[in-house]
Amino acid sequence: MKTDRIVIVGAGMGALYAALALAPRPVLMISPESLGEGASSAWAQGGVAAAMAETDSPEAHALDTVTAGAGTVDSDVAAMVTRHAAEHIIDLTDFGTPFDRDAGGKYVMSREAAHSAPRVVRVKGDQAGRQIMETLIGRLRALPSVQVIEGALATGLATEGDRVTGVWVRRADPASGKLLIETPAVLLAGGGSGGLYAHTTNPPRIRGQVIGFAARAGAVIADPEFVQFHPTAIDMGEDPMPLATEALRGEGAILINKHGERFMTAVHKDAELAPRDIVAREIFAQTQAGNRPMLDTREALGAEVLTRFPAVAEACARAGVDPVENPIPVAVAAHYHMGGIDTDEHGRASLDRLWVCGEASSTGLHGANRLASNGLLEALVYARKAAEDMDATLGAVPEAPELDFDWPEGGENVDEDTVMELRETMTAHVGVRRNTEGLKHALATIARIEAEADTETMRNMTATATLIAAAALTREESRGGHFRDDFPEPVPALAHRTRITLEAATGIRDAAKDLT
Ligand code: SIN
Repeated sequence: MKTDRIVIVGAGMGALYAALALAPRPVLMISPESLGEGASSAWAQGGVAAAMAETDSPEAHALDTVTAGAGTVDSDVAAMVTRHAAEHIIDLTDFGTPFDRDAGGKYVMSREAAHSAPRVVRVKGDQAGRQIMETLIGRLRALPSVQVIEGALATGLATEGDRVTGVWVRRADPASGKLLIETPAVLLAGGGSGGLYAHTTNPPRIRGQVIGFAARAGAVIADPEFVQFHPTAIDMGEDPMPLATEALRGEGAILINKHGERFMTAVHKDAELAPRDIVAREIFAQTQAGNRPMLDTREALGAEVLTRFPAVAEACARAGVDPVENPIPVAVAAHYHMGGIDTDEHGRASLDRLWVCGEASSTGLHGANRLASNGLLEALVYARKAAEDMDATLGAVPEAPELDFDWPEGGENVDEDTVMELRETMTAHVGVRRNTEGLKHALATIARIEAEADTETMRNMTATATLIAAAALTREESRGGHFRDDFPEPVPALAHRTRITLEAATGIRDAAKDLT
């Protein structure tokens, strides 16, 4: 199939915002589920970081971003993104997003870890992701320029030399075959990699496929070893694990263990509001020691936790925990991939005619440890930048009729037992704490799974897993979300970003496998 529409892969906040910014340029949006479902941004609880208070500034926000990022944030990117934050909050407000406001109309700000001020604009407590998405979807549905195919998945890119010429797409239904949509430009906005791990807060489909197929097409990948683990995923047996937002700790909730000890005060001067990687490692240590860490909201919030944090209250109710009476059991879970497709200041990837925004990208904003609630902000800023750059690159707006899809047969069946083996391997050996032996073991397992794979979905997942584990093996130091038991200190000479191709990562994997 050939079209003059820009193809947007994904349907999260970045994808929707870009489609709106591109209008009236025709767009085809590939949404794996019904619009608004299945995207990580719809599950975001905290909100969007933006210096909206008179006492705050983009410079202070940029400084916190650089500090949390542990030495590898691109400070120009941090300055640019934080400078644009307020304009996007105002635009979202004008679109109708019901941000929480005080009686004087000022934005109510949540405090989250490693922010020097309350700086996270929120909606109905912990409903930011869902409410912003609903606002954007409402506007998108009214746009004649956007065609959405719901229930379809992108599985690969077609290229001619270094230029992307199309996207391979199939229906989410396993019986569907794939077809090629040839297009003048592609925007990848299909999320990160959390679901490559057995313990994750990401929606079930977010398993690194988009980063994987971009890498397989030759796109350069940046910082894949930097995966952020959230310290307070609710640990009651659900997969994915529901989040207990960091904003609860911003309201004064504390972390205790089964002995009633408040353990974070001994670890960091900011206690529960220490940078996320530090809190995550301590939660992991408490879990490993059998101390059962828990988030205690009782004194800070009492019964208000139920009304002010409805998503957390609902997850607790499903798990049979009453947070008014009892602390909430928590554990670490893969939450956000700082790494992704290497993306420049215009949202361009290293391949021609390929743009990226949101968690699939790696722009240099997050470094080794993302500052809380900078994820949605980055998605908004780069969605608009990519849209502007695509517009400038593609010139006159074409007429592009809607496409009719006649899906071929001959689908692919992904073996969920093998997927679980991959996810457990990542959690055990490429997780919060890593070492040489475990990473080599993981690379050997990934290589075996890839050799036996007979689906594009699995090869896309093993590609991303290879990139994460190979870059983690190569980085012989500890920094931010990447902690090596055998190299526990940061090495000043390694305070730089990683840029790596899949070919190079596979070379590292093959060499490591020979040594096991
Ligand atoms: C949270 O609400 O704790 C998550 C915020 C984020 O990951 O940015």
